[in-house]
Amino acid sequence: MKITVVGAGFVGATTAQRLAEKELGDIVLHDIVEGMPQGKALDMMESACLEDFDSTVQGTNDPADYSGSDVVVITSGLARQPGMSRDDLLLKNAEIVGGVAENVRKYAPDAIVIVVSNPLDVMTYLVGAKTGFPKHRVMGMAGVLDSARFRCFIAMELGVSHRDVEAMVLGGHGDDMVPLARYSTVSGIGIEALLPKEKIDAMIVRTRNGGAEIVKLLQKGSAYYAPSAAAVQMVQSIVRDEKRILPVAAYCTGQYGIKGQFVGVPVQLGRKGVEKIIELSLTENELKQLQASASHVAASVEKLGV
Ligand code: LAC
Repeated sequence: MKITVVGAGFVGATTAQRLAEKELGDIVLHDIVEGMPQGKALDMMESACLEDFDSTVQGTNDPADYSGSDVVVITSGLARQPGMSRDDLLLKNAEIVGGVAENVRKYAPDAIVIVVSNPLDVMTYLVGAKTGFPKHRVMGMAGVLDSARFRCFIAMELGVSHRDVEAMVLGGHGDDMVPLARYSTVSGIGIEALLPKEKIDAMIVRTRNGGAEIVKLLQKGSAYYAPSAAAVQMVQSIVRDEKRILPVAAYCTGQYGIKGQFVGVPVQLGRKGVEKIIELSLTENELKQLQASASHVAASVEKLGV
């Protein structure tokens, strides 16, 4: 497998490192900054004999090196600064990510594309439009990250192993994402049977603000350990054809009453990309929240005018 990571900042470089250490394929790390992807790639290659992996990592400034990629992960763009919302990034990152999408269309026409850049759902829409790829080959990474944060908070609150905690977060990767307590469990036991409502509500708020909490602590830049791990879990499900059911920003064609839009929903992820969208039965209130989140995404797409 050949996996290209576009953008060699913290998210991109950590993604490349995790992909190589898991030997999911040979990695191309691309950035426009001269020397930087080459330096990081060489540094990773020098760790191969210590970490014991056979994947290669090639750094480059030339998008022609995307050629033959099975999967492309787009992490390019500016990161959030304190006080900045994901939407503030909209116009600036649309310019950057739009250019990347054109390169992907030109050099890696058969790739499955995972978008990580923010604002996530809008950038995924943009990449879908600019590549013109079949929509099952374009998706965004958000739900896996947001669910991982929710799982982490549940495990910490209950003092149980994170291994036993599953959670589902739907909707856009924004302040109105929809963490679903009803579909979140510890070894199959619904969390509503284990925790009082106030605790669950507080964890839902913390999950929604998960990205901002890290930005505030770091002061410079945003999260990258969990975002890269989430992207890698998606890549793994694709290249190993694991067919995992994961929440990702996928193109909806009427599911949940959402049409012609990328938004976080549970999908089956395999060698073909998004192989199926799973329609959970939602309460009226949950569905309303999901649709509200989707219309927020649609409004931002409109601002972009693509
Ligand atoms: C986060 C930012 C990157 O959720 O959106 O960490």
